[in-house]
Parts: sequence; C-alpha cells; structure tokens
Amino acid sequence: MARTWWKEAVIYQIYPRSFMDGNGDGIGDLRGIIEKLDYLQLLGVDVLWLSPVFESPNDDNGYDISDYRAIMKEFGGMADFDEMLEGIHARGMKLVMDLVVNHSSDEHSWFQESRSSTDNPYRDYYFWEPEPPNNWKSFFGGNAWEYDAPSGEYYLHLFSKKQPDLNWENQKVREEVYSLMRFWLDKGVDGFRMDVIPFISKRLDWPDMDPHDFSSAIEQIYANGPRLHEFLQEMNRKVSSHYDVMTVGEAPGVPPKWANLYVGEDREELNMIFHFGHMMLDWGPGGKFDPQSWGLKEFKEVFNTWHKAVGQKGWISIFLDNHDFPRLVSRWGNDREYRVESAKLLATLLLTMRGTPSIYQGTEIGMTNVAFDRLDDYRDLETINEYREAKERGDDLDALLKVVHRVGRDNVRTPLQWDDSPNAGFTAASEPWIKVNPNYREINVKAALADPDSVFFYYQQLLRFRKENLALVYGDYEPIDEGSDWLYAYRRWSKEGEFYIYLNFSSKEQTNIPFPTGIRTRLFISNYEPDASFKDTLRPWEARVYRVAAP
Ligand code: GLC
Ligand code: CA
Repeated sequence: MARTWWKEAVIYQIYPRSFMDGNGDGIGDLRGIIEKLDYLQLLGVDVLWLSPVFESPNDDNGYDISDYRAIMKEFGGMADFDEMLEGIHARGMKLVMDLVVNHSSDEHSWFQESRSSTDNPYRDYYFWEPEPPNNWKSFFGGNAWEYDAPSGEYYLHLFSKKQPDLNWENQKVREEVYSLMRFWLDKGVDGFRMDVIPFISKRLDWPDMDPHDFSSAIEQIYANGPRLHEFLQEMNRKVSSHYDVMTVGEAPGVPPKWANLYVGEDREELNMIFHFGHMMLDWGPGGKFDPQSWGLKEFKEVFNTWHKAVGQKGWISIFLDNHDFPRLVSRWGNDREYRVESAKLLATLLLTMRGTPSIYQGTEIGMTNVAFDRLDDYRDLETINEYREAKERGDDLDALLKVVHRVGRDNVRTPLQWDDSPNAGFTAASEPWIKVNPNYREINVKAALADPDSVFFYYQQLLRFRKENLALVYGDYEPIDEGSDWLYAYRRWSKEGEFYIYLNFSSKEQTNIPFPTGIRTRLFISNYEPDASFKDTLRPWEARVYRVAAP
C-alpha cells in the first residue's frame, strides 16, 4: 500500500467551545487553542481537527454556519486564525477544518434570499415543496419539513429547523462549496472532515421512511443517494486533488459493503471515512435515546467486518468517541474502579488498529461522562428537544434523564479539565457556557502531567511507538479468538514487524489466555507492571502488546 502522511498521522479533535477560554468570557476560543499548542505537541499528535469555527448563530454549536468565510465572533477573528495556523505548522502539526455543507444555517444570506419568494434566484439553493412530500423525521426531533410563511412552502431540514439542507442538484451550490473549500485550502489548511457527507444527494422521488426504524432509514433513505459518488468525484477533481490534503468523511448510514465506493484508492473521492458500525451498536429501533445493551463479540465483529471490507484498497479512520457520543471510558470501559486501566486499554485499541486514529479532546487524560441532575444544565439541542417531546408524550422524565446521562452529547462537551482550580482552569469567568464535570479536581491535565503513569503519558508512549513501527500502521490485521466475550486479541504484521495485542475487556482477572507459543516475543507495551506470576493471566482491563523478536 502506498505510503502517505495521512495514513501515518494521528488526529486530535478539538471542540473549540469547550477546549480553552482565552479571554475570560466563559466560551472556548482560538486564543485558548493557541495557548495550548505546546501541550498538544507534547502529546505527540499530528493533525488537529477543529469542529466548526465559522460564523454561526450556534443553534447546533457551529454546525449551522451563516458565513463560511468568517470566524465566529465568540471564537476570535481571522488574525487569530492565521496566528493559530502558523503556530500549528511551526510545531510540525497540520490543521483540518470541519466542512458542513449538507446544510447551512437559516441565517446564511443564501437562505435569507431563498425564503424571500418563490422566484428568488437563490430559491433552488434549498429544497422547497408546496406540501411535505414524505414522512421524514429530523435527527433532532419533529418533521424534516418545515412550513415557511413568507413564501407559503415547506423546506427540508434533516437536522434542526435552523439547518436547512442545501440542494446539491444545483450546480451553483456545488460551485459555492468548491469555492469556499479553496478559500481555506489557499490559506494553508491541510484538509477537511466532512460533516454527514453521505447525505448530500437526496432521493428526489422522496420515498417514505419506516417511522419505527430510524437506523435503517439512515442507511436506506438519507445516506448514499443516487448522485452522491458523482458529487464526491467532482469535488475531488475540482478541489481536493489540487492540494496535498486529508479528506475524511463522517459516514453514518454507510455499510461496510459500500465502503470502497467512498475510499477505494481507484475511486478518487475521499481518503477515508469515519464509519458508525460500533457507534450505533447500542441504538434501538427508536434511535439513540432508545439504547440497548451491546456485547464485545458484536463490537469485534464490526472491526473485523470493516477490515475485510476495506482491505488493501481503501482506508478508514478509527475513533471510539467524538463530540457526538459518550466518553470512551464511560461507554466501552469502566469509569469507576478501573478508569485509568480501561482508558489505557482503549488507547491501546485505538492506536494499534489499522486506520488513522482520532483522539477526542480530554480522552487523553481519561475524562468521563457527566451526570447533571437538572435539565437546565444541559445545552445540547438534541437533548433539549428530546426532553420536550418526551414531556408532550407523557413519558417518564426521570427515566429519560438516566438515558441522557448515558448517551447525551453534552457528556463530551463539558470543558476540558486543565487543573484543579475553579472551573477546571478552563475559564477565568465565574460561569462557563456549560458546567464543568465535578470530577475535575481529580481528573485534570495538571495532575496527568505530574504523574509518569498517567493516561496522558501512556498515549504519548503509544503515539511514539506507532510512529516508529510502520507494521502498526500498514500491517495486516487478523483477529484471534473471535468467540470470546471479554477478550479482544489480534495480530498486526508486515515485513517491518509483527505484533500480538491482548485486551481484557472485563473487570475480572482472566486466566488461560491463548498467548502465542513457540515464537519468541517480548512485551512491548502494557498498562500494568510486568509480573511473572501473571504469565497466563490478564488482570482487570489489562492490555498487552507483544512484539515478535527477530529470529
Ligand atoms: C454531524 C455532527 C453533529 C451535528 C450534525 C449536523 O453529525 O457531527 O455534531 O449536529 O452533523 O451538522
Ligand atoms: Ca472566550
């Protein structure tokens, strides 16, 4: 497989609103990011992906953009952006921006024009119908079609009412997108993460969805539309292929069998995608607020299937949490008695899989979910809308609050915990825009940097090892013991080296581990002190990486 920088890189995702407040108004900003670039360099990540920093009324924290060429006032200005980009490049890192072009904000001038009358030249920038043509639901509750009084028609919004879907059938819309991409690339940014990119081509026969099966609707109705690949190829031909950039598509609703249509090297569409296989494992028919239990067997099955599907032809990005999902250690690990051990085990998985790993801010210090006991403390419109609808339906609101504690997006949006001073050192203001997680006195960057055994230094070590061992990047992957519901073990190998990885996904000591026999191995990395008495045993959440010694 051809070597490229974006396959060898490790991504770190910044959610700017919650990262660091540089000017004391309670909201994270670009000055805050600039202040912390040395910290990120110390961790050893290569690419910073910034969730949207563009002008926005913040209905969905920047995923509703009203001006694609301006920096959100709360985050700073273009001078701050230029300084930040320079600072990132000066430290040998790269910057990837969030491209949110399935929809814009309703406050974007295109939509303001579009809604003003049926014959406005911008009318066709969005989808308008005299009556809702189908029963589509919005991801954030309610119908996906909204009546708009000025012109007496309905417009489509797969997300909130303030996020009208752009009409990619219109060549002018596509040219606008390509032109704004060039604007940022010409400034020197190193690529884009593309928000819900499989949704940009719509099924214009407007088929109905099954209202009781939202997960299937995503794959069959919203994603993978008829002209999608034509659009992605056009975007590549007209824009991305002219720059040395990383393109990674957020890909809900893309099943493994179609992966290579997006990322196959012969396709010239995207470098890689973030698939949702594991992220939607626990969704019930009602979607995310209807969570089901998940098992390690199915979890491993997702990784195995995706590995087979993408094979030697394409590439994917690996993530275990981001700004839309619960904290990795709370979701896949044990965030109580084995928080540190399980956070390190998950780091081991993330950084020894095949694919470009993406680390979400705070995960490098083992931050956990938060459980606010009042709805008032929540800020995410998804949670707030769900709560309102549940109330209208007469549902049990205490039960819903428990579900929010488990799946809500604000779990990962509380401020990054920098130290043990008030508000975790995130802001000098008395009130941050969202409350800090009360566990900041124990879990914070300052404490992590003072402890050589911290989750932070474990990440740092793994990042270095990955870089020094190309077999962990390009090597093949083969699962061992697929049937176990607590052990995740696999082999990674290439002509540069061979590794065996053993992960005990349980809070119990496990014996009779099928460690390799008959070959000489050396313990390469582990989250526990080596101890000869545990020869065939894995301690709770123990992770071991063995390297096969040269013959
Ligand atoms: C993506 C984003 C999410 C956002 C949605 C609408 O899923 O990751 O945060 O709410 O798209 O833009
Ligand atoms: Ca600020």
